[in-house]
Amino acid sequence: MITIALPKGRIAEQTLEKFEKAFGEKFVFEDRKLILQKAGFTFLNVRNQDVPTYVMYGAADLGVVGLDVLEEKEYDLITLLDLKIGQCKVAIGLKAGDTIDWNRSSIKVATKHTTIAKKFFESKAMAVELVKLYGSIELAPLVGLADCIVDIVETGETMKQNGLVVGDTIMESSVQLICNKNSYYSKKAEILNIKEKIERT
Ligand code: PRP
Repeated sequence: MITIALPKGRIAEQTLEKFEKAFGEKFVFEDRKLILQKAGFTFLNVRNQDVPTYVMYGAADLGVVGLDVLEEKEYDLITLLDLKIGQCKVAIGLKAGDTIDWNRSSIKVATKHTTIAKKFFESKAMAVELVKLYGSIELAPLVGLADCIVDIVETGETMKQNGLVVGDTIMESSVQLICNKNSYYSKKAEILNIKEKIERT
């Protein structure tokens, strides 16, 4: 039995389609159920940011999560495969007309991605005052909560519709298949079989 943590929503659906193609079984979560057991797999339906936690503690052998979330958590996990879905970038967002003066010594940044934001600005020799938010990040510069934001950009529509412009890209992200280190050694054959079959879908 292999346990796989999936992030609720579209990425979970796209991943289950890959498993369907790879293993010839239909995998669908029933209504509000958070566990799906079938054909030797246990799928867990968890929050995006919680996927690495389930895998890190060994509650799941495998997980499916964006590179941005992995960078944020800094856990010691194995990345098996780029699933080539959920492509996006982590970028700076600014109020239209604003620019970042890279010569200033500090900046106030609103973000959910505090680790990534801190590293980026510190690499530019700027001290960062972080304002941790959990959603609707685009509002922050508009109401004077922060000088800029660091957020996920997929199409750029959310920033555009809220009067922001997309600034520097900090990192590119896509969804990765990750693995718990102990599971990788104790269930290596099964895990490599999954990796290879999913890779071919
Ligand atoms: C992200 C991000 C933006 C939006 C960007 O939110 O926070 O709000 O997507 O997409 P766009 O460039 O295509 O407009 P997401 O939907 O991932 O939900 P979240 O707020 O839970 O992160």
